[in-house]
Amino acid sequence: MPITYDGSTQCFHLFNDRVSYIFRLAGGKYPIHVHWGRRVRRVRDELIERRTIWPEDAFSLNETALDFLPLECPTYTGDLREGMIHVIHASGMSPLLLAYESHEIVEDKPSLGGLPSARGEGAQSLLLTLRDEVSGVAVELCYTVYADTDVIARSARIVNGGSTDIVVNKALSACVDFEGCDYDFTTLCGAWARERRPYTRPLVPGDQGTSSARGASSVQTSPFMMLTSKGATETEGEAYGFALCYSGGFEASVHVDHHYISRAMIGIQPFNFSWKLAPGEAFQTPEAYLCYSCEGIGGMSRSFHRLVHSHITTGKYARAPRPLLINNWEATYFAFDEEKLLSLARRAVEADIDLFVLDDGWFGHRDDDHSSLGDWFDDTRKLPNGLAGLSEKIHALGLKFGLWVEPEMISPDSELYRAHPDWCIHVPGYPRIESRNQLVLDLSRDEVRDHVVGVITAALRRANVDYVKWDMNRFITMWGSADLPADRQQELGHRHILGVYDMMRRITAQFPDVLFESCAGGGGRFDLGMMCFMPQAWCTDDTDAWMRCQIQHGTSLVFPASCMGAHVSAVPNHQTGRSTPLRTRAAVAMNGTYGYELDLTKLPDEDIAEIRAFNKRVREMQPVLLYGDLYRLRSPIGGNEAAWMSVSPDKREAVVTHVFAQAIPNMKDGLMRLAGLDETLTYQDIDTGKTYGGDELMYYGIRVTKPWGDYMSQQWFLRAVKED
Ligand code: GLA
Repeated sequence: MPITYDGSTQCFHLFNDRVSYIFRLAGGKYPIHVHWGRRVRRVRDELIERRTIWPEDAFSLNETALDFLPLECPTYTGDLREGMIHVIHASGMSPLLLAYESHEIVEDKPSLGGLPSARGEGAQSLLLTLRDEVSGVAVELCYTVYADTDVIARSARIVNGGSTDIVVNKALSACVDFEGCDYDFTTLCGAWARERRPYTRPLVPGDQGTSSARGASSVQTSPFMMLTSKGATETEGEAYGFALCYSGGFEASVHVDHHYISRAMIGIQPFNFSWKLAPGEAFQTPEAYLCYSCEGIGGMSRSFHRLVHSHITTGKYARAPRPLLINNWEATYFAFDEEKLLSLARRAVEADIDLFVLDDGWFGHRDDDHSSLGDWFDDTRKLPNGLAGLSEKIHALGLKFGLWVEPEMISPDSELYRAHPDWCIHVPGYPRIESRNQLVLDLSRDEVRDHVVGVITAALRRANVDYVKWDMNRFITMWGSADLPADRQQELGHRHILGVYDMMRRITAQFPDVLFESCAGGGGRFDLGMMCFMPQAWCTDDTDAWMRCQIQHGTSLVFPASCMGAHVSAVPNHQTGRSTPLRTRAAVAMNGTYGYELDLTKLPDEDIAEIRAFNKRVREMQPVLLYGDLYRLRSPIGGNEAAWMSVSPDKREAVVTHVFAQAIPNMKDGLMRLAGLDETLTYQDIDTGKTYGGDELMYYGIRVTKPWGDYMSQQWFLRAVKED
C-alpha cells in the first residue's frame, strides 16, 4: 500500500521503497506538511511541532495561526504569505478557508480533462477534498505516488460548490513548505540559441523564482526549479526537483518567510489569468512533478527520466530506436527546388541515413519568413509535383519522408489572414505586434482549430509522411480574442494552450505510425506537456557542438536524451561561426535523437564514409544512449570539459562521451572516474577490444587523452563480457 491514512494521528503517508511524503490534518482540518524525503516508517507526534498538530487558535495571528504553519494548500486566508489558490466570490471578497472534508485512495490516477498528464499505471493516488463551508467552494488535491520512480505528481481541481459565480484568480498546482532555508536554488534560464542554462544561488528570506508570461514555457525560462542541500553534487546530497506538465505561462517560486519556512510552489502564471466558474463548474490545474533524490542531482535527473520514459511519452516511438534524419533547413534555408532536395536525398542514401525532412518553405509563396503561414498548400514553383510527387521520389530512394509545419501561426501576408483577419490573437484598436513577421492563431476558437486540423492533416496525408516537425516560432503578447466576452478575456492564455493540446491530440491520433517532433524557434517549448504528445523536441537552433554540450547538459536535468533533437551541422557553425571536428559534432549529437542538418552534397566522399560509420555506431548504441541511465561526469557550464555517460538498465552496456573545449599546452592525460556500472562485471571497450573491471573504471578511472587542437572528443562504447 503506497498510500496510507492513519486515523489516530490523521496522517497521510505516500511512499515507495525510497521516498516518503507525509502530511497530516492539523486540528482535524488543515493539511499540514510533515516530511518529504528519504523513506521513513512514520514520524511520531513528539517529533512534530506541537502547533502543527493542534492549532488551538488558528484564527488569531499568534504562533498557532495558519500564518505559521507549513500548509499543503495555502489560500491567503489566515495565512499572510504567498498562496497557491485565490478566488473572488460574487461579493467581491476573497476568503477561502479550506478544511478537510473527505479523502479517497484509488489505483492509477484520474485524467485531467483536456490537459496532458503522466499516465498512472502501477501508481496509487490520493484524492483529498477540502471545502470552504461558508462559500461551498471545494479544492480537490490529487497526489500520485509511483513505485518505479521517485516522483510525486500533484494537481488541484477547484470546484464551485456554491450558488453564485466565482472567479479563480490564481490556481497553482502544488505547494511544499520546507522547514528552514538552508538550500541552494537552481533554475534554468537562457535565450534563443542558448537555452536552459542552470543558475544556482542560495535561498534567502523573501521571494525568488522564475516565470514566463510569454504564452509558452519559452527559451528564456523553463517550468522547473530545484532545491539542493548545501554542498550537493551530481552524486551526493539531497535534491528536490519541481517540474510542470504545461506548455503555457508558468511560475515556479520559493518564498522564505519570517520563520525561515521555504514555501515552494509551481503552476500556471497568475499574470493575465483568471477563470470564471458558474455553480457546479470546476477548474483543473496542470500537473506538477515533485522529485526527491538522496543521490545528488544525478539521482533526481534519473528519476525524471524514468517518469518520462515510463509515464509521459507515448506511441510507437516512445521506447523505440529513432530514425537517423537529414533536415534541409541549414542546408538550403528557403532556397530549394525539387531537384536540389532530391540531390540532397540521394547523398543521404549514400550516407546511410533513414529519413529525409523537408523544413520550412514548401507552401504558399514562402520564399522567406514574411508570408504564407496558414496557406498550407504546395508551392508548385518549387515543387512542380507537389508534396505527393516529392514524397514518392524520396520514398523510391528508400528513405522515409518528413515534413515541417507551423500550424499555430498566421502570416498577415496570407490568404488565410485576408479571409479571416479576426482569427489571430489581437486587441482591437492596438497594433497587431508581429514577431518574425507573424501572428498567432486564436486556438481557443473551435472553428479555427477545426480549420487547422483539416488543412494540416490534408497536407500530411498527401505528403504520405513518416515524421512531422511541429514548429511554433513566436511568443504571445497583446492577448485578446474576438470570440470571448469581456469577463472571460483573461482566460485566453489557458484556453489557447488547451486548444493547442486539442489540436495535437486530434492530429497525432490520426497518424499513429508517424514520429512527431515539437519545436519552438529552437527549444522554446521544451516541456513535459509537449512530451505527452511528441516524444522528442528540437533542443535548440544552436547546432554548435560546444554550445550543444552546455544546452544538452542543462536540458538533461529533467529530460532524457530520447527527448532531445540533436543534429550534426556544417562548419563554420551558422550560429557561432565556430569550427569543430566532424567527429565531435557527431559524438555530441549522438547523445540526443540523432540527425544531420547540412548540405551533404558539399561534403567530400571521405566525410560521407565517416558519416556512414557514425550511423552504424549510433544504431548500435541508441538503446543505451536514448533510454539508459544518465550520469553527468564533467560539467561544461563554466568549465573546459564536458562528459557524461549512459548505462543500460541491466548495466551491461555503457557509452561514455568526453569533450574538451580549449586545448591547453603542456597538459597530461587525465583520469576520469565512471559511474553507474556494475563493479563486479568486466567491460570491453568495443573499439580497442581492451577489457576493464567495472570497479576499476569507477574507482580508478579511464584515461582521457590530452587534446591536440580545440574541441576534441573521445567516446567509449563498453559492453560486459565474460572474464577469460
Ligand atoms: C525555427 C526552427 C528551425 C527551422 C525554422 C524554419 O527557427 O527552430 O529549426 O525549422 O524555424 O523557419
